[in-house]
Amino acid sequence: MPETLRYAGIVGVGAYAPQRVLTNEDLERMVETSNEWIVERTGIRERRIAAPEQASSDLALAAAREALAQAGVAPEDLDLVIVATNSPDMFFPATACLVQDALGARRAGAFDVSAGCTGFIYALSIGSQFIMTGAAEKVLVAGADSLSKMVNWEDRGTCILFGDAAGAVVLEPVPEGYGVLSFSLRADGSGGPLLTLPAGGSRLPASHETVDRRLHTIHMQGREIFKFAVRVMGEVALEVLRKAGVGPDRVGCLIPHQANLRIIEAAAKRLGLGMDRVFVNLDRYGNTSAASIPVALKEALDGGYIRPGDYVVMVAFGTGLTWGGALVRWLPEARGRAAGVAPAGGQNELPGQDSPP
Ligand code: ACO
Repeated sequence: MPETLRYAGIVGVGAYAPQRVLTNEDLERMVETSNEWIVERTGIRERRIAAPEQASSDLALAAAREALAQAGVAPEDLDLVIVATNSPDMFFPATACLVQDALGARRAGAFDVSAGCTGFIYALSIGSQFIMTGAAEKVLVAGADSLSKMVNWEDRGTCILFGDAAGAVVLEPVPEGYGVLSFSLRADGSGGPLLTLPAGGSRLPASHETVDRRLHTIHMQGREIFKFAVRVMGEVALEVLRKAGVGPDRVGCLIPHQANLRIIEAAAKRLGLGMDRVFVNLDRYGNTSAASIPVALKEALDGGYIRPGDYVVMVAFGTGLTWGGALVRWLPEARGRAAGVAPAGGQNELPGQDSPP
């Protein structure tokens, strides 16, 4: 082990969203709701839905390939594959093992992280520490979810919110003062009942009765989650800034979990940040759970919202209850693209690059 800690940074980012678009108008034909209600209460206009044969590992794989190509890292050089997900392909094996195998990351360990929509922040902080301590040189961290498979499509309180996607980053040692500068991971399990998928586990194994009662789908007390999220998002953002001794005025870009525009606006207000420094793409994807932050990060980078050397704050909340944040100082120059490494061809189906069937 090295005597001093190293800095861990993001050297490649990838994202993938399935082709099928489900609009608010489509939902109007499925449940008693309206485009106006959804836009006004959430900011969401459309979301992507995975194909029947697409599982979370398939989404993660596409995002991972793009992140590796951008970083110029070969799969066989990875030491670790971590996948944050709430919709694993199955209980076991871990989705990360499926991704590890499909990538051909022969030398890598692999495991999943279950921390609700905060999963990517948890996984990023775990992966970073492997780099910081010298225990790993190259780590892939993905956030992937296909909650459309677990939603009750007759429950207007939840089915309008979620979309499917995956995002991934590659972590490596970076120069001092760059990369992950601080993070904060929090949980309050007493709030667990507010957002659950009750059946299918060891508490309530799957049965005809659990299926009849729709206990294998998402159950949520939206208003309570909303109040919790408004309280913790700004708080945890300020906490990671305080830990690193960076003032909110120096934040170049806030990448919040994309659940609800009103929650995001409240967090920005708490930080004193104008919305011009807050990246929002939930109008096009809805809440993609553990994928939401890396997908937003990828689009923020591609759109020029993050410049070399910027301080970037990522914050999330989710089932558990969990919440957390990370402060990252972006590298002085982009890797991968600067070195002429092209993203994986044909993998990415983010908007602007394809149209729905
Ligand atoms: N269309 C029309 N009306 C609706 C809909 C809908 N889709 N959904 C609920 N309503 C109705 C309710 O029935 C209620 O009617 P009532 O007053 O007659 O009882 C009314 O609208 C208001 O309902 P509220 O729940 O108070 O609405 P609210 O403004 O809180 O918005 C929402 C609901 C959008 C769910 C909001 O509470 C929210 O975003 N909460 C956070 C949810 C979240 O982010 N969950 C994910 C966590 S991350 C993870 O780990 C997966």
